Amino acid sequence: MAEFKRDSTAYTIGFAALVCIVCALPIAGAAVALRPKQELNARLDRMEKVLVVSGLMERDESLEAAELEARFDASVVARAIDLRTGETVDTIDTKAYDQRRAARDPALSAPAPENAARVLRVPHVAVVYEVMRDGALQSVILPIQGYGLWSTMYGYLALGADARTVGGITFYEHGETAGLGGEIENPRWQARWVGRRAFGDDGTVALEVIKGAAGPAADDPYRVDGLSGATITSRGVTATLDFWLGPDAFGPYLDRVREGRASVTATTGTP
Ligand SMILES: Cc1cc2nc3c(=O)[nH]c(=O)nc-3n(C[C@H](O)[C@H](O)[C@H](O)COP(=O)(O)O)c2cc1C
Repeated sequence: MAEFKRDSTAYTIGFAALVCIVCALPIAGAAVALRPKQELNARLDRMEKVLVVSGLMERDESLEAAELEARFDASVVARAIDLRTGETVDTIDTKAYDQRRAARDPALSAPAPENAARVLRVPHVAVVYEVMRDGALQSVILPIQGYGLWSTMYGYLALGADARTVGGITFYEHGETAGLGGEIENPRWQARWVGRRAFGDDGTVALEVIKGAAGPAADDPYRVDGLSGATITSRGVTATLDFWLGPDAFGPYLDRVREGRASVTATTGTP
């Protein structure tokens, strides 16, 4: 057997490799062991966002996991939608479905037509949340994403049962500059959206973030205050709505909601 000398190259490489293996094993083990917990946390986080944007939870409210799940289950149904038809897909487990991953998979998505939100691919299936009250559809929560100045901004938009009136908006992940484009996270700005109208009389998306201040929702229903010093992010938000509410994304589903063909009869359940 070859003898390794302490100052030999083989000894140095072998020692470095051993250190790497010894360090990597516990890290890999921890990553695998913690994966279920990470997935649960991601699911709880999603539930919280949906509850907040639908007005079923205060932003500063802190709920235990069981309470959060119970509140969600009491009012919200997660539903997989085929974006091409707007129909429900029963074969998808909404708890396990990863829409972002699906959008990267050529078998599960299609290239998006050119759009200002810079959405490159549209998943065939998206998970929406339907909020029920006394057995009737109260609002629908749609996942949205689009490009601002620096980053893709991920959020949820809540529309009333008319599928036209904004119930709320939230952005929970983005890389815009804090204090400028990052103001999309500001609850005061998000509150300015409530009661605005998403679609004009001709049925096309009409809501836009303007440069400057908009009036109250009742007088100025199609415009939302721009973010000062962040016109590019503001435009990105307008483009995001334009794309996801349009015919290449949630348009067919929203048509079904308006026709009363989307609201669920099934019992509510976690995402
Ligand atoms: C360091 C830095 C960060 C910026 N971050 C943003 C941003 O997140 N979103 C944005 O729209 N504009 C941002 N801007 C400003 C844009 O370059 C651009 O000037 C602005 O969008 C124009 O908006 P205004 O017409 O309201 O001033 C940033 C500028 C600098 C120098």
